[in-house]
Amino acid sequence: MRRSALYLAAALLLAACAKEAGQPAAPQVIPQPEHLQAIGDPFTITRSTPIWIDTPSEEVARTAGMLSERFGKAAGFQLKTAEEFPQSGGIYFMETGGYPQEGYLLRVEPGRIIIEYSSGAGAFYAMQTLLQLLPKEIFSDSPVKGVKWTVPGVDIEDSPRFPYRGMHLDCCLHFFDIPFLQRYIDLMALHKVNRFHWHLTEDQGWRIEIKKYPLLTEKGQWRKETVVGSLSSGIYDGKPHGGFYTQEEIKDLIAYAAARYVTIIPEIEIPGHSLAAISCYPELSCGLEDHYETATRWGIFRQVYCPKEETFKFLEDVFDEVIDLFPSELIHIGGDECPKTSWKQCPHCQALIKKLGLKDEFELQSWFIQRMEKYINSKGRQIIGWDEILQGGLAPNAKVMSWLGEEGGIKAAQQHHEVVMAPYPKYYLDYWQADPDSEPLAMGGPTLLRTMYEYNPVPDVLTYEEQKYIIGVEGCVWTEYMPTPARVEYMAWPRMCAIAESGWSKAPKDWDGFTRRLETHLGRLDLLNVGYCKAFWNPFIDFHKDTEYSKVVTMSVDAPDAEIHYTLDGTTPTAASPLYTGPFAINRQQKVTAVTIRNGKQLGEIKYKEFR
Ligand code: ACM
Ligand code: ZN
Repeated sequence: MRRSALYLAAALLLAACAKEAGQPAAPQVIPQPEHLQAIGDPFTITRSTPIWIDTPSEEVARTAGMLSERFGKAAGFQLKTAEEFPQSGGIYFMETGGYPQEGYLLRVEPGRIIIEYSSGAGAFYAMQTLLQLLPKEIFSDSPVKGVKWTVPGVDIEDSPRFPYRGMHLDCCLHFFDIPFLQRYIDLMALHKVNRFHWHLTEDQGWRIEIKKYPLLTEKGQWRKETVVGSLSSGIYDGKPHGGFYTQEEIKDLIAYAAARYVTIIPEIEIPGHSLAAISCYPELSCGLEDHYETATRWGIFRQVYCPKEETFKFLEDVFDEVIDLFPSELIHIGGDECPKTSWKQCPHCQALIKKLGLKDEFELQSWFIQRMEKYINSKGRQIIGWDEILQGGLAPNAKVMSWLGEEGGIKAAQQHHEVVMAPYPKYYLDYWQADPDSEPLAMGGPTLLRTMYEYNPVPDVLTYEEQKYIIGVEGCVWTEYMPTPARVEYMAWPRMCAIAESGWSKAPKDWDGFTRRLETHLGRLDLLNVGYCKAFWNPFIDFHKDTEYSKVVTMSVDAPDAEIHYTLDGTTPTAASPLYTGPFAINRQQKVTAVTIRNGKQLGEIKYKEFR
């Protein structure tokens, strides 16, 4: 913390003197900054407020331009960058040594706004925080009349808890176009999330143009139809589904993300989840089947890459193009859910196991990944893979993305490998976020907002030394049941706000404080037209199995200062109905119907649940 005791004393004094009248709302920032203190009078930004960039820099000029552009949209005026140092009344971007990577200082004084940083990322995150200190209307895309663009007097010093703050998107189970991905990245940046994990290859579709193997996208992008409902319904829609990203589009998206301090990490799945590629080039498989076709249902498939020279030549060519395109130091190689069925039956695989002196197919998988790691390391890049890359022994330099609960992450950290925590179901945004009885189809769950918020990504069983290997967190968005951008936004937000806060904020968890800030923040997401799930204001009714004749009922609501009132006879509850104060039992004839009330008014939707 770069602050003197003298300065702190002055800040406290100013805070004590803060005027009551005319003060803008108290700051409600997500993710919560490390240090935030009210210090006195606010500052109002007008059309004549200049921006000053003390050390000319293209990066900071771009960030200042984004701030100005936001004013252009929401306020109807842009902010001009001054040619000469304005003595007062401006927004001052000051590059200064000594701040942590991505860290910044933001001080709002009556006469000016000072932003200090040591990197372009710091300046960018200060700008993001400044936007959240302004009235929420700053997020409007059309001019809002009658708003005073006043920022409360605050002193903020902030830097992230983890260097890796990620959000994943599976663009294979369903394809999403580039404008949606840009919007996805904008929302990530608003929450100081800095890694976009782009899932590009799958059994159900290949989405990245590879110039040397054009069939991968000409044919491999397509599946002839898609299962309707869950993977076991047996009913198909009869409609081809496809889509892919050209290398030009990818380059543009990488630049778009980089301007928002988001690194794109491409994922190319090996050795499993590779049926779309195998359907184009069957010689990459163990060759046990007559016909290979891009998958039309969800799940895990036995058709995987066969570890032969032909396959390695193909994969090296693919990774050459991927590495040329993506500047990311990390390259995700998948590694999850690779059945060993084909390898067990394949004469080549069995001979290879013998020749290499391997114990089994798990060690063959490890050998496969280690061979690819060597190749990718030789190009100056590092691999990251899902937990299963631990099977048969971890590749020497691999990082692990822990999704099978925490165990893989713990094991990897104990072996001194870096880990990103992305455990299912706690960080899986494809799980239900409210009662499955009244939600669209999802993967499982529910995983409530509170569960996501309260998850501690650094397991207690790790020693202090081992904990340092946890480099960050990631929220996963698998899109089996998200065929549209609207459904993705519904599932991802606002739960991703909770993961973003776990990735950025060092402060201890404070659910109550989080929900208060989130309620304000949801107003911003409204203005950005994010179609987030509104369960925040609804009652959540949970049944716990008791006897054959009884269930125990618990209820909760995320919104602060809300009461839950309920009936058990099927009638509509009101503020006059019994107040929920704690668990109770119901019999087979009773139906719980609940409403949330704040200040005597209905807050969310009425929800019910029946004995079943
Ligand atoms: C995964 O969810 N299969 C990583
Ligand atoms: Zn084989």
